[in-house]
Amino acid sequence: MRMFESNVGNVTWMHRPEPDYSRLVWEEANRFRVHTSAYTDPTVFAAEMKHIFQKTWVYVGHESQIPESGNFITSYIGNQPVIVVRDEERQIHVLVNRCVHRGAVVCREGGGRASEFNCPYHGWVYGLDGKLLAVSERKDAGGYDDAFDAPEGLFKVPRVERYRGLIFASFNPAVQPLVPYLGRAKQFIDRKLNFSPEGEIVLSSKPFVVRYPGNWKFQAENIVDGYHFMHTHKGFVQLQMKYGDSTGDFGVHKGGTPKAMRALRFRGAAWRCENGHGLIEKPLGEVDSLFEGEFGDYQRALHDTYGEEEFSFMAGKLSGSIFPNLGLIHNQIRVWRPIAHNMTEVAVYPYELKGAPDAFNEGMLRSQERFYGPAGHGAADDVDIFIRNQQGLEASAVDWLILERGLSTDAPDAGSRDLRGGSTSEAPQRAIWSEWKRLMSAGADQKPSSCPSSTGAHDATQEGHH
Ligand code: FES
Ligand SMILES: [Fe+2]
Repeated sequence: MRMFESNVGNVTWMHRPEPDYSRLVWEEANRFRVHTSAYTDPTVFAAEMKHIFQKTWVYVGHESQIPESGNFITSYIGNQPVIVVRDEERQIHVLVNRCVHRGAVVCREGGGRASEFNCPYHGWVYGLDGKLLAVSERKDAGGYDDAFDAPEGLFKVPRVERYRGLIFASFNPAVQPLVPYLGRAKQFIDRKLNFSPEGEIVLSSKPFVVRYPGNWKFQAENIVDGYHFMHTHKGFVQLQMKYGDSTGDFGVHKGGTPKAMRALRFRGAAWRCENGHGLIEKPLGEVDSLFEGEFGDYQRALHDTYGEEEFSFMAGKLSGSIFPNLGLIHNQIRVWRPIAHNMTEVAVYPYELKGAPDAFNEGMLRSQERFYGPAGHGAADDVDIFIRNQQGLEASAVDWLILERGLSTDAPDAGSRDLRGGSTSEAPQRAIWSEWKRLMSAGADQKPSSCPSSTGAHDATQEGHH
């Protein structure tokens, strides 16, 4: 085994090369399997933080959460805490939430308005752009002399880009631009957001947060799992049957009666897209009946703007897993945060469609609560499965998980490298794992790259002797 040596400051480190984690995804003709340890091994988790969450675009928040100068939220890129803030010039910065002095988290609030950030430990002060403005009691009682070389400020995440209000950041200065990274997911986001007459969404309420003892990839996979609904959510389906069928009231939960839900199940397509994005789209077969309802005028106007075909996608069911940590389903943004190989936090942010009738937004919120809320009948089922999934995978006597549903029938789409499968195909899960494999192989048998340092551009390991 080769060892690598590098200099960090005046300290020499020996780096042990990493195993080739890409071998945990076994892909060949008629075969797509994932090794158990990709979910259960803490060293795999540590490698994911480095090779995935520090290398690709990661969703950190939505512009409507920080509408004014001075507004901020705290968020994460993998396991690294960050502050997403709008400065006096309305510029958005993503700053590593770690004091340059001795490393305390500078901002402890989930969000709010500030004119500066004040570290709670020894009181160092930072501007909204992260610049170090003051070292408290700088000269007092010995303090720091004039030769003290103070860092410039909080580490600024080098790449920040937005798409239609969604803010993404990357520690990788060379990451490709956001829109080509999103690929087909861009059209998917457009279809969801165009349901607002103004083309905008607003995250107006606090998120519903769940922490589960299981791997983050269960959530990434599940939000685009067209196979599980009638099984995992049997209780919800029975409830719809009992109350909905007898009262005729199904709320605005798309899918309606159990019969309609079953019919919808095998309609539409599941996509395996480039860069790890998995999508499910189920266009409405028939749109005319929408125009007779309470929200007929609003929906007809959208239909006339976008045309029949596009409107049938917009009004249908759309769910997406945008690699690695963002999901869109129903009228919600879902973000999952990896904490450990067996611990994940999920935040569900319901959104409002700007310009849509109040009663429509309200109805979507109610139906959202009914399935996804804390007392909802659906989301708890999924979380229960994630916990069971982790428990089951601890049975390490069995090596592989099978992700081959639809493998032989997924077909290439003209003009792209994306693959389109049937609605219950595991194509979206294969999207996640093939990008996982690509990024994780980057670490194989190489010396590791350094974590971002407070000076930003300086990568100490590049100066090492190879
Ligand atoms: S750790 Fe922030 S001021 Fe000391
Ligand atoms: Fe589910």
